[in-house]
Amino acid sequence: MRVCVIGAGPSGTAMLRAFASERAKGGEVPQVVCYEKQSDVGGLWNFSWRTGLDKNGEPVHGSMYHYLWSNGPKECLEFADYTFEEHFGKAIPSFPPRAVLYDYIRGRLDKAGVSDWIKLEHAVRDVSYDEAAKKFTVRVADLRTKGMPESAEEFDYVVCSSGHFSTPNVPEFPGFNEFNGRILHAHDFREATEFAGKSILIVGTSYSAEDIASQCYKYGVGHVHFTWRTRPMTFEWPENCTTHSLLTNITQDGTCSFKDGTTAKVDAIILCTGYLHHFPFISENLRLKTSNRLCVDNLYKGVVMETNHRMLYLGMQDQWFTFNMFDAQAWWVRDLMLGRIVVPDAVERATHFQAWRDREETLESDEDMFRFQGDYVKELIAATDYPSFDIDAVCEQFLAWEHNKHSDIMSFRDKPHRSVMTGTVAPVHHTPWLQALDDSMECYLKTP
Ligand SMILES: Cc1cc2nc3c(=O)[nH]c(=O)nc-3n(C[C@H](O)[C@H](O)[C@H](O)COP(=O)(O)OP(=O)(O)OC[C@H]3O[C@@H](n4cnc5c(N)ncnc54)[C@H](O)[C@@H]3O)c2cc1C
Ligand SMILES: NC(=O)c1ccc[n+]([C@@H]2O[C@H](COP(=O)([O-])OP(=O)(O)OC[C@H]3O[C@@H](n4cnc5c(N)ncnc54)[C@H](OP(=O)(O)O)[C@@H]3O)[C@@H](O)[C@H]2O)c1
Repeated sequence: MRVCVIGAGPSGTAMLRAFASERAKGGEVPQVVCYEKQSDVGGLWNFSWRTGLDKNGEPVHGSMYHYLWSNGPKECLEFADYTFEEHFGKAIPSFPPRAVLYDYIRGRLDKAGVSDWIKLEHAVRDVSYDEAAKKFTVRVADLRTKGMPESAEEFDYVVCSSGHFSTPNVPEFPGFNEFNGRILHAHDFREATEFAGKSILIVGTSYSAEDIASQCYKYGVGHVHFTWRTRPMTFEWPENCTTHSLLTNITQDGTCSFKDGTTAKVDAIILCTGYLHHFPFISENLRLKTSNRLCVDNLYKGVVMETNHRMLYLGMQDQWFTFNMFDAQAWWVRDLMLGRIVVPDAVERATHFQAWRDREETLESDEDMFRFQGDYVKELIAATDYPSFDIDAVCEQFLAWEHNKHSDIMSFRDKPHRSVMTGTVAPVHHTPWLQALDDSMECYLKTP
């Protein structure tokens, strides 16, 4: 059996780790080939200063920026089979900067000993399926040879773990063509110091909006104006932040008008308007089509393509749970490929899907949402040998985190959380987040 994994980010490497775990237990594993278009593993956690196109002319995958720290407690994403304490040899604070999380992802991959399964700088160009032969043909460009000639290989299963926070959703507002200032999407945001002393407009109310505004505040922005479409954020923002309703127009000199009749003058606009699930490298009939939601369209158990049970997707949900949810999915998908799990008939699949969708449509609060996703992770883990962990206790961590954010959006990262894997309460970081300007791993790991 041959398995193709697309992407070596947290989801793709979870897939590799799932097979490595089986191999370590003496089980037989298929031949696995993981194509990664970037020159390193880590997905979004593999930072690049680049925007637009990369050195190979490929669209830049990365959406992360300088000074990005985990937005949720690390205790909520911890791998059940590789704890932070195992990796760092000691307990570390709860909200690590990007480089620290990158190191953690890498550490587990190195321990799995599967780097020879990964082909870096290989971009998947097309995936098609031959129903009669029950084989996929995957066309791949080796970017080190400028993509020529492309190779075509056959596989029995394809696991798409290409992420879905990379292709920006870019709305346009009246006046954008005339505005003399800078307009960028969060995907292209790299450096908060660029906006020091400036007046900026943040469009959107979700994580990118919240975190990019906080970063800009931390690094000396003049004024942040927020504009919302459905509902405003409810945090207590500092005095140099103002919330307006939806933007209706911007003039050449940067005067914004909003639906509520207010106006504001800005130098730049940052569109924190989310991302599109976009898979141009997969044939139309195998391509996942969904919006960013918890119960993803067209996937049984959130991973199996409804119309082709050998086409699997990891990490396509909107994400409260991340690394350990990708693990739960990877272990489940591994056991499907190994024949231990059988996809039921269409009626049972539809009933199962509808039950989750019906529940999804009743969700109102953030707590409803992370408990929903927690139950999904529980269901997957129950079917495999992924180390079980206390998911309700993770939800309690999410709850405390939400509470801390609403108490003070600028200091929630200073609060320690308890690992549900080891029971250890994290030490408090040596410097409050707002004053911690050095986000290097070396600085973060200094003992208080
Ligand atoms: C700005 C930002 C901040 C975030 N911060 C957090 C956080 O603090 N905590 C948290 O838990 N989560 C965070 N996330 C969520 C993030 O989605 C996950 O942490 C995680 O990176 C998802 O892993 P993934 O492997 O599914 O996708 P990705 O990390 O996107 O990795 C996908 C990989 O697939 C590769 N790929 C794509 N297309 C192809 C192709 N055609 N051929 C070959 N390779 C391909 C890409 O190069 C990439 O390496 C953040 C997301 C964003 C956008
Ligand atoms: N580590 C970190 O600190 C960090 C930082 C940034 C992002 N992230 C992660 O990145 C992922 C993506 O988050 P995201 O915030 O980029 O996307 P998102 O959660 O999908 O949110 C998209 C936002 O854009 C708004 N929007 C979309 N179209 C709009 C339009 N035409 N006009 C006005 N508003 C519009 C939406 O508003 P409506 O509510 O009206 O639809 C919503 O607020 C998340 O997993 C998050 O955790 C993490």
